[in-house]
Amino acid sequence: MITKICCIGAGYVGGPTMAVIAQKCPNIQVTVVDLNVERIQAWNDDNTNNIPIYEPGLPQIVTEVRGENLFFSTEVDKAIDEAQIIFISVNTPTKTYGKGKGMAADLKYIELCARQIAKVAKSDKIVVEKSTLPVRTAEAIKSILDSTGNGVQFQILSNPEFLAEGTAIEDLLNPDRILIGGDTSVEGQKAIQALVDVYSNWVRPEKILTTNVWSSELSKLTANAFLAQRISSINAMSELCEKTGADVNEVAKAIGMDSRIGPKFLKASVGFGGSCFQKDILNLVYIAKSYGLNEVADYWEQVIIMNEHQKNRFSSNIVKTLYNTVADKKIAFLGWAFKKDTNDTRESAAIFVANDLINEQAKIMVYDPKVSRKKILSDLNYLETRMPEENENSIVTFDNPYLTCEKAHAIAILTEWDEFRKYDWQKIYKSMQKPAFIFDGRNILNKAELEEIGFIYRGIGV
Ligand code: NAD
Ligand code: UGA
Repeated sequence: MITKICCIGAGYVGGPTMAVIAQKCPNIQVTVVDLNVERIQAWNDDNTNNIPIYEPGLPQIVTEVRGENLFFSTEVDKAIDEAQIIFISVNTPTKTYGKGKGMAADLKYIELCARQIAKVAKSDKIVVEKSTLPVRTAEAIKSILDSTGNGVQFQILSNPEFLAEGTAIEDLLNPDRILIGGDTSVEGQKAIQALVDVYSNWVRPEKILTTNVWSSELSKLTANAFLAQRISSINAMSELCEKTGADVNEVAKAIGMDSRIGPKFLKASVGFGGSCFQKDILNLVYIAKSYGLNEVADYWEQVIIMNEHQKNRFSSNIVKTLYNTVADKKIAFLGWAFKKDTNDTRESAAIFVANDLINEQAKIMVYDPKVSRKKILSDLNYLETRMPEENENSIVTFDNPYLTCEKAHAIAILTEWDEFRKYDWQKIYKSMQKPAFIFDGRNILNKAELEEIGFIYRGIGV
């Protein structure tokens, strides 16, 4: 019987996932640990609206279970020692140094976790890979765990997470599937069953899929590659639509009605962002190359190349349309997050579009309902394109969308926040420089209505 679970990593995955496990398994004590003291403090904030992650439905669950059977702590060793199941949910970013720089996943945080578990564990443990990892990582984790020679037995499971930000709680409560990969030995199968029993508290048996470890690890990279590939495919078509008079929304609808293709994930956009699609595909490309599978690597790399092109195309189009210069012009950005309903900005297209336009000496006015000025500046500074003071001088942030657009030469929609659709566009038009341009990087506004008001509207693929 599992009574204690620990999760290392209180991030976008660890936090929401463990909150839902705690809510659905009242008899299991769930402790989420992290080295980041500030983050843990924020998770423990009395006001659950101040928890570090904005995710619809999450504050309510945290209010319900925190202090009952859900705990956030920096006492990593204690939580590891007590738990029967340990989830590793730490970040696995693209390497920024050494061999595989810019492509391979950086597994240093994973390895640190494995070493910490090996050091602390005094009783047998099930160690679960929740982070997205290169295929065959379980082998490395096992080798570290088994190196202590103190007789403690470890089983490694792969249980990748498929939630999407902005809908994390809905995705966790009603997952399309739960994937658990484990060893084919009797002990391995027992460990799989222990984790199946946890999920069975709220997920129907036919949705819980068990496989070998390698299939599970590789399925996660494959799922993200397929999802991103759909976006790059429709974005490639968006450029062709713009040249030919076809409308990408109509094309997406027409192809999506083919049940073999399906309607989801066919929204043309300024380019996909988020912490995972690019990182995971680069990792897949790296793995393929390391096995000498160059055609496989090139095939998937094209998804990233297309996405880069889509982001560049968007900023070039703004410059071209504004008479080939944006120097000293005000460009109002509506949205900075990589998608709606999240405060996450990792790899957001907004960062790259802003960077391009600042290179052209534009002034960027930004409004995002959930992203702070501090975050916006740190995103730009991370690119190291110019001195931080220059970014500071090029970016003005607002907490009011109408003030953001005042006297702007153009508006760029970077995130599909619902509230943008409901603005008084007539009022915004009046306050802008003329001609007033809108570059709708999400195709969320009504082109005909805006043109009627007087805007010059440019969407993606329309
Ligand atoms: P994150 O950066 O939000 O959180 C990771 C946390 O781990 C950080 O708070 C960090 O301080 C902590 N950490 C790192 N090393 C540690 C250590 N040794 N001990 C204790 N804490 C440590 O990352 P995330 O977005 O939650 O992603 C985690 C993993 O899940 C990644 O592999 C990612 O690819 C995968 N994933 C993410 C999503 C998503 O939507 N963000 C979805 C599915 C899978
Ligand atoms: C994605 C996957 O959807 C999750 O299943 C996966 O667990 C997660 O990555 C992960 O491994 O991290 P996420 O990045 O949170 O989730 O959000 P998505 O909804 O997939 O959106 C990713 C990006 O693609 C966003 O910038 C979004 O705006 C863009 N997008 C999405 C489009 O441009 N068009 C679409 O049709 C869909």
